[in-house]
Amino acid sequence: MCGIVGYVGTPAAGGAGVDGTEVVLEGLRRLEYRGYDSAGIAVVAGGGVQTRKKAGKLANLVEVLGADPLPAAATAIGHTRWATHGGPTDANAHPHLDASGRLAVIHNGIVENFALLRAELLEAGTPFTSETDTEVVAHLLGRAHAADPAAGLAAAMRAVCARLEGAFTLLAVHADEPGTIVGARRNSPLVVGLGEGANYLGSDVAAFIAHTREALELGQDQIVTITADDVVVTGFDGTPREGRRFHVDWDAAAAEKGGFPSFMAKEIHDQPQAIADTLLGRTDAEGRLQLDEMKISEAELRSVDKIVVIACGTAAYAGQVAKYAIEHWCRIPVEVELAHEFRYRDPVVSERTLVVAISQSGETMDTIMAVRHAREQGAKVLAICNTNGSTIPRESDAVLYTHAGPEIAVASTKAFLAQITACYLLGLYLAQLRGNKFADEVADVLAQLHEIPGQVRQVLDGLEQVREIARYMADTRSVLFLGRHVGYPVAMEGALKLKELAYIHAEGFAAGELKHGPIALVEPGQPVFVVVPSPRGRDSLHSKVVSNIQEVRARGARTLVIAEHGDTDVEPYADVVIRIPRTSTLLSPLLAVVPLQVFACELATAKGLDVDQPRNLAKSVTVE
Ligand code: AGP
Repeated sequence: MCGIVGYVGTPAAGGAGVDGTEVVLEGLRRLEYRGYDSAGIAVVAGGGVQTRKKAGKLANLVEVLGADPLPAAATAIGHTRWATHGGPTDANAHPHLDASGRLAVIHNGIVENFALLRAELLEAGTPFTSETDTEVVAHLLGRAHAADPAAGLAAAMRAVCARLEGAFTLLAVHADEPGTIVGARRNSPLVVGLGEGANYLGSDVAAFIAHTREALELGQDQIVTITADDVVVTGFDGTPREGRRFHVDWDAAAAEKGGFPSFMAKEIHDQPQAIADTLLGRTDAEGRLQLDEMKISEAELRSVDKIVVIACGTAAYAGQVAKYAIEHWCRIPVEVELAHEFRYRDPVVSERTLVVAISQSGETMDTIMAVRHAREQGAKVLAICNTNGSTIPRESDAVLYTHAGPEIAVASTKAFLAQITACYLLGLYLAQLRGNKFADEVADVLAQLHEIPGQVRQVLDGLEQVREIARYMADTRSVLFLGRHVGYPVAMEGALKLKELAYIHAEGFAAGELKHGPIALVEPGQPVFVVVPSPRGRDSLHSKVVSNIQEVRARGARTLVIAEHGDTDVEPYADVVIRIPRTSTLLSPLLAVVPLQVFACELATAKGLDVDQPRNLAKSVTVE
C-alpha cells in the first residue's frame, strides 16, 4: 500500500507561481501512513523529466531536495513506498524511469505477471536499475510511447495496462507532454482532485484535501488524463467513461484515516484488501501455487519432519491457526512456541526442522533472538513478515511477505488476517510439494480463500449489532472467550484485543478446558463469547461447543455466540447470535475474528480510550 500524488497547475509566468514539488510533498506528508520505506518525486521541466528519490522516511527526501532542488515545475508526481517487490533502497524507490529517461512512472499495487514481462524486456536488452515490478511498467510504457509518439502517453498507458495482471494504480509523465499526467487503476484506488486552474491525483483524498474538496472517483480498469484545466476518463479500451463526482466532507486528519475515526477502525476495514493482496501473484500460469520468495530448496522442504512456529502475541495466535491447517494438509507435526520461551526450553531442533517466524514488524526482539537460536541449532527459518527488508526476514533463509500495507494502530488486525492467509499459502505449498494434496485439491482451497475477502466485507457490513452490544457493555469488568479447534486461537485473539484496547480483564479458553477449572469464573451476567465451528465440519466439534454454551448459560452467563449462517442449533442457548458466512472450518478464523475485533474497538471507543495508541504498548517490541 503506497502513497501516490499527482499535480498539474497553470505554469506561472517566470516560474514564480505554485511549485509542483511543494504541492506533491505536502500530499506525500498526508499519505506517509500508507508507506514509509522510501519516497520520490518526478517533475516535467525544461524539456525533460527530473527525479529525486531516497530510501527511508519522507524527511530523507526533503533533505535531498534541500541539497539538490528540483526545478520549478507545474507538473509533478510523487510516491511514498511500502515495499513489496524489492527491498527499501534508493534504487527501488519510485519514480522509475524508462530507458530514455524522458518518462517517469509511480505505482501502488502488485503486478502479478511482472517476472514474465521483465524476462521479455531483458531479452530485448532493456537495462534495469531496480528489482521492482514498477520499473517493468516504466520500460513497457517508454517502448509503447516510442513506437507511436504521436498517439501520446494515454495511448501508451492503455496499451500497457492491457498486458498487466494484478492490482495497480499508475501515474506517468513524459517530457514530450508537459502539463499532462496520465493515470490508470485496477483493483487499487485512484481519485482525482478538481481544482481551479489545477487538477490533482491521489491514492486517496488526503493527497489533495488541502487544495480542493471536489473529487472524482475512478472505476475499475480506467485511464485518466489530467491537465491544469481538463480531466478526461476512458476505459482501458479507450471508450469514454464518467468518474463518480463527490464532495469531500472530511477534515485533513480524517482523510488520512480514510474517513474512519481511527487507524484501528480503518485497518479493520482494510482487511479484505489485505487478504486479497496477500493472495496476489501466488499461482503460476497453470494455476499451481508458487511462492517466489521461497529460497529454501524443494528437496529441503520435502525432508522437513517438524515445523516449529515462533512468534509473540497476535502473531503467535496466527501460528496456532496455522498449526491446525498445516497438520491437516501436510501431516507434519507443528509446534507453536512463544518466541521468548522457545530458546530457554532447550528445544529439539535439527536440520530437518522448519522454523516459521511470524512477525508484522520484523523487529520483535524476542522473535529475532529465537530465529538466531533456531539457526544455531541448524534449522531452516522461514519468515512470514509484513515489513519488507526488516531484521527477521533478513536473518531468515526464506520469506513469505504479507501485503497488508503499513499497520499504524498498535493492536494488530489486518496483519493478523494476512499472517493467517500466508500460513495457509505455506501449508498448501508444502502439501502440493510433498504430494499430500493433488493440484485440484490445492486449487479448491485456494478458490475458497479467494472468496474470503468478499466474505469479510459481508461480516463488516453486518456488525451494527456488535457495535450496539459493545456500547451497552462499556462498563463490563470481565469477558470470557471460548473456542475449540481453530476457534481456540480466535478466542485467545479476541481476548487479547479487548485487553489491549479496552483495558478489561479478558480471557480466552479452549472450550473443552472450561470444566477443568475456569467455569468457576462464571456467575450470573458474566459475558461469554463463544466461537462455534461449522456444523458442516466434524460434527463432534460442533455439538461439543453447543454443549459448552449450555454449560455456561446454565450458570447465568450472557452468551454471545459467533456462528455461521443457518446454524440453528445454537439459538436456544445464545443471548446474542453473531452470524458469519459459511466457509470451511480451517478457513473460518479469517471470518470469526472480525466481530471480536470490532467489539473490542467499539467498546474501547465508548470508554473514550485511544484505540490507536493504547497505554503501555508499543507497535514493535524491540527489547527482550
Ligand atoms: C498485537 O495486537 C500486539 N500489538 C502484539 O501482540 C504483537 O502482535 C506482538 O508484539 C508481535 O509483534 P510482531 O508481529 O511485529 O512481531
